[in-house]
Amino acid sequence: MLIAGNWKMYKGPVEAREFCARLRARLFGLEGVDVIVCPPYPSLHDCCGILANTEIAVFAQNAHWAKEGPYTGEVSPWMLKDMGVGGTLVAHSERRQMFGETDESSALRIEGSLDAGLHVIACVGETETEREAGETENVVVRQLTAIKTVVADENLERLAIAYEPVWAIGTGRTATPEQAEEAHKLIKAHLDVPVLYGGSVKPDNAEALLSMRHVDGALVGGASLEVDSFAAICEAAVRS
Ligand code: PGA
Repeated sequence: MLIAGNWKMYKGPVEAREFCARLRARLFGLEGVDVIVCPPYPSLHDCCGILANTEIAVFAQNAHWAKEGPYTGEVSPWMLKDMGVGGTLVAHSERRQMFGETDESSALRIEGSLDAGLHVIACVGETETEREAGETENVVVRQLTAIKTVVADENLERLAIAYEPVWAIGTGRTATPEQAEEAHKLIKAHLDVPVLYGGSVKPDNAEALLSMRHVDGALVGGASLEVDSFAAICEAAVRS
């Protein structure tokens, strides 16, 4: 089981330090779950320091594809690796919807991060309109196909997919365990890697989702911002 907390644009260095120290104490000795936090860039350094030599990994929320170059405002995955970051999220739907991320640019970012030696959680998922139009399978397969083209076999072990139906992100509407299971099964038929569910995962629905056969973990947004709710989801993963 893998539980990743996507902090989005919350928690600067001061808050992040306090959170990580508390999380480290709270999860000490918890076995059977891999835990990741994804702070915003300015907090990465402090989180890497506090969580060094623990079982909790630190991922970025995005990365460029090049090692270095004239790319104002972008961050190199090689630089992230140098500072002790373990991996990165790529293609989150907020990046796709608000910042022009496409299947193609996402694929480049995934390739760059894997080349730099990072792990990657690549996000896929349909919008509400796409689901209602019966397009879920087409959309998810299209997104996966773009990802597959850039992942060499030897790098597959550093890739996970997060299935995040866009209509369930930050809305309090979760996919039912059966809907999640169906999508995860489809994804795994195309790409044999761990698949996390994301979209309004909370302590009270985590166990039902994580108990599904093809659900290998969760990508948690809002509920990852409090130590108690995030830790409760990590503990639910151990029971699932
Ligand atoms: P949420 O966010 O848990 O707040 O719905 C999930 C995500 O955006 O990764």
